[in-house]
Amino acid sequence: MIKSTSPCLGIFTNKPAFTVPLHVGISLVEPELKLAFMQKLETVFEDNYFTNNGPLVQKLEDEVAVIHGYKYGIAVCNATVGLLLVLKVSDLKNEVILPSFTSPATVHAVLWQGLKPVFCDIDPKNLMLSSKDVERLLNPEVSAILGVDIFGNLSPIDELVTLAQGRPVIIDAAHSFACKKESKHKPAIEVLSFHATKIFSTFEGGMILTDDEDVMRELRYMRNYGFQDYDDIKTLGINAKLNEVSAAMGLASLDFMEERIEKLRRTRELYIEYLSPIEGLHVIDINQGTTSNYHYFSFLVDKDKFGIDRNLLLKVLRGENIMAKRYFYPGCHKMKLHKPFYRDLPNTDLVSEKVICLPTGLPYPEMDVAKICKILQLCSEHGRKISEWDRV
Ligand SMILES: Cc1ncc(COP(=O)(O)O)c(C=O)c1O
Repeated sequence: MIKSTSPCLGIFTNKPAFTVPLHVGISLVEPELKLAFMQKLETVFEDNYFTNNGPLVQKLEDEVAVIHGYKYGIAVCNATVGLLLVLKVSDLKNEVILPSFTSPATVHAVLWQGLKPVFCDIDPKNLMLSSKDVERLLNPEVSAILGVDIFGNLSPIDELVTLAQGRPVIIDAAHSFACKKESKHKPAIEVLSFHATKIFSTFEGGMILTDDEDVMRELRYMRNYGFQDYDDIKTLGINAKLNEVSAAMGLASLDFMEERIEKLRRTRELYIEYLSPIEGLHVIDINQGTTSNYHYFSFLVDKDKFGIDRNLLLKVLRGENIMAKRYFYPGCHKMKLHKPFYRDLPNTDLVSEKVICLPTGLPYPEMDVAKICKILQLCSEHGRKISEWDRV
């Protein structure tokens, strides 16, 4: 259990290494982006069109669908509701296989649809669904596989589609804006998150991606209370619309993505370089052939080699205003609400006990990464002292 962070403030210097807290997944807002957003916002007010499938939402849908190689994008108010709609439109029954190593949002979307989540283990190397465990879990009750792309890695889609034998493979792609990998198959549907903590943000928001025209049409009705025309309800709907102000932010952000991703790629490179001499820290790889967005930098802490365990490291880092995160901890299968669906998931347990994510949206990557890694090195060198101090 992590205790209060206050006693460990600045354990090496008596004051935190960073005066302003550095968060994981902070919204990246370049000064020029603010200006570009304000200009787009002007057009929202000029058009006097704020929501209900407005022109900016439509433009954003077209542009994001192209980036991801899909025919259709359906903008929604957030990824959680997007997942709900996707599970509903897919007309699923009984069981859905999904990882436990994910946000509770993925699991709750399944539960909201009255479906049974079947927790599957992950591959500890890349944190994606383990194809072997999927194979073990498949049975006639399973109506879909819901994979989750984690930390800029992509789900093993070819393996999942082959294993699924005609069942839809749906991907929670909340983390994988602009990530790409050559593959033979495509998911039936993907759902992106545009939450403020994601690499591409519309403050709150998300997008469903599909090539299926009927599914696209149905989803458009569903996100708008089920209306297919004035006074004409076609299907059970909800309000899941993205507004024009959010779409303006999305469109303005698109112009900054290439540069942003390059900056994050460089930050990852720096982390890897500085961490390589430190024993006991195992960086989670990006799969070969994947073009990542590099938004997350995560590694596993091996206490015996590093000197202190993940939780104590987290405590020290937070004391230095490096707001590293246990992401995801605990696995969803260990949460009280999900107890009825518990399964033994050794890899998920191992990873969630050891994983830590460091901030990447750094103001001064070269300097900040060096400073963060120096603290990690000191933790490793003074492991015993830090543990003693923590026991006091
Ligand atoms: C893997 C995953 N899926 C779904 C979500 C939910 O996204 P949203 O906040 O857009 O509803 C998150 C949010 O962090 C997430 O990390």
